Amino acid sequence: MKHLIPEFEKLRARYPAGFESSFVLPCLRRIQEDRGYVADRDIDALVEYLGVPRIQIEEVLSFYGQFRRKPIGRCHIQACRNVSCSLLGAERILDHLTKKLGIAPGETTADGRYTLSTVECLAACGTAPVLMIDDTYHESVTPEKIDALLGTLP
Ligand code: FES
Repeated sequence: MKHLIPEFEKLRARYPAGFESSFVLPCLRRIQEDRGYVADRDIDALVEYLGVPRIQIEEVLSFYGQFRRKPIGRCHIQACRNVSCSLLGAERILDHLTKKLGIAPGETTADGRYTLSTVECLAACGTAPVLMIDDTYHESVTPEKIDALLGTLP
């Protein structure tokens, strides 16, 4: 994380003194963007850099579902399983994905290509069922659309 400190310093200048805890979220986002996840050593470094209690960083990490604490596959597939998506076939979509990828939610394929996760709502309920692959939404998905999509992923 130390190589990001010059970048953090530029951002930090926008925050008033005493608001270090508000600066935790952008730091964590940038760390994850850089490494792909937030490691324990990143938390240690952030505690030292910002001078905030470790619990403040842990709270942000556990509140926001987008943060990852361990490495994931090159493609992160997130399947919504909340009410709107469930009513429109989320279970069938997840079942199709688990069979197709050979992994359960929370797992990564042996070749490190895909990680499959479930999420509670991707805020696109009107076009359920919804998947998010990396930063891209895929709405009104069907098993056929998934097959086509998987063929286009790196
Ligand atoms: S319930 Fe699936 S996007 Fe909201």
